[in-house]
Amino acid sequence: MVRLDKFLSDAGLASRRELKTLLKTGTVTVNGKPVADGAAKLDPETDRVCVHGEPVEGPRRVVLLLHKPAGYVTSTEDPRDRTVMELIPSALRRQKPVPVGRLDKETEGLLLLTNDGDLAHRLISPKHGVEKRYYARHEGTASLEDVEAFAAGLTLKDGTLCRPAVLRPLGPGESEITVTEGKYHQVRRMMASRGMTVTYLRREQEGPLGLDGLALGETRELTEEEIAALCAL
Ligand code: URA
Repeated sequence: MVRLDKFLSDAGLASRRELKTLLKTGTVTVNGKPVADGAAKLDPETDRVCVHGEPVEGPRRVVLLLHKPAGYVTSTEDPRDRTVMELIPSALRRQKPVPVGRLDKETEGLLLLTNDGDLAHRLISPKHGVEKRYYARHEGTASLEDVEAFAAGLTLKDGTLCRPAVLRPLGPGESEITVTEGKYHQVRRMMASRGMTVTYLRREQEGPLGLDGLALGETRELTEEEIAALCAL
């Protein structure tokens, strides 16, 4: 059992002071009845709390898949730029998800966010080698030598060693790249080290998850089966 005021503030709905006003004005209901006493106890599993008639969810694990557009930074706050958090519906944002790894401001594609720190760590850790597949448009055309250099493990211009990766040429100026780590600007720098400047980049796959027609800028919550598949990686 938890106090109603704690339940509402944990749900990120309002500050403690704002909650007092909400409660006084009779806009908070528990199982359909207005409750004005913040100290009232409730069972988050079975009691239904609404504010202004909208159900309020208690804290729970969420894993979100966002189709990130270009122009947003992968961060929870930024003094200058729009952040990916602005694209997350507010009811889900209240669960305090954070991005898992990052996509550059100009990169589009699949970005996971979660409030499950252990899962985030597992997905980011190079130890687990989760595959991430990208589609790139770039200057030049990837050759067999480029494919072999990726497979052998590239050395970037600053001496950084990359794990073996898969480069699949799709045609002039187009390739697919699959990596198992997430170094800063990794794909752009790998391609640049072979003389192919990337002009457009989109992440299409992470582990078992793809974009599957999710529209640019849209978010969806992963199902329990999808979360289980991620946890099993
Ligand atoms: N590699 C990059 O260079 N940029 C990204 O956003 C992701 C991978």
